[in-house]
Amino acid sequence: MSTTRTRSTVQSDTSVFDDVTEYWNRRAPLFDGAASHVRHKAEWLIVLRAAFATADAKDVLDLGSGTGACALAAAELGHRVTAIDGAAKMLAHARRNALLRGLDINFIVSSIDDFAATPGSADIVTIRNVLWTLKDPLAALKKARMLLRPDGRIVVSDGLWSVDPGNQSTYTTDLAARLPFHAGLTQPDAEKLLNDASFGDVHSWHHLLNALPYPGGAPFFVLSAVTPVTR
Ligand SMILES: C[S@@+](CC[C@H](N)C(=O)[O-])C[C@H]1O[C@@H](n2cnc3c(N)ncnc32)[C@H](O)[C@@H]1O
Repeated sequence: MSTTRTRSTVQSDTSVFDDVTEYWNRRAPLFDGAASHVRHKAEWLIVLRAAFATADAKDVLDLGSGTGACALAAAELGHRVTAIDGAAKMLAHARRNALLRGLDINFIVSSIDDFAATPGSADIVTIRNVLWTLKDPLAALKKARMLLRPDGRIVVSDGLWSVDPGNQSTYTTDLAARLPFHAGLTQPDAEKLLNDASFGDVHSWHHLLNALPYPGGAPFFVLSAVTPVTR
């Protein structure tokens, strides 16, 4: 997919973005340690393959890619992948992971707000475990919709992190209070956000993961939805 610029300094939620980015840059060295996408790599590949619902190579955009959980899986499935994240140190790990696996991924350090790809240039957008940490998750889904081609597909995954203290972030109280879903999202929360962002035809895929992938049994979901075809 084509991009015109990466990160600028002006955006609506600069302080939230800066605080969140600082947090993830700090966590980057240890993030992959016990992560679900490392422990359950093969299962996540099965889930994403099913959720992508295509046999053809597509343009995949991974928003808030972190150390590359979805980006690496999408590239392994044969897709052309662009992965963005605000935290340069998380993406540095993703880059190294891609190199180790011989995968060619276009990594860009950028906030979701400021990411300026050509509208309608992605076939599939993935956004896993990111909505909970955004000040305006609906705006991110609307941005994703704008970046998708007609009949494009979004794959959203997240969970209700508050059920297990081990899964909670250690954000400051002040930062947590500025995030509408800091406690996590339920599937109905995500379905409402997708609906409000004008996505349709929502399907769930998390039943394909055999075990609960997160410590403490945190409820999670994997949903796909599509942009309506305009005729
Ligand atoms: C919990 S991690 C999830 C990483 C990855 N998607 C995964 O499933 O393992 C959240 C990631 O979202 C990124 N992030 C949070 N807010 C962002 C924003 N507004 N723009 C870009 N990246 C953001 C963070 O830097 C962090 O790497």
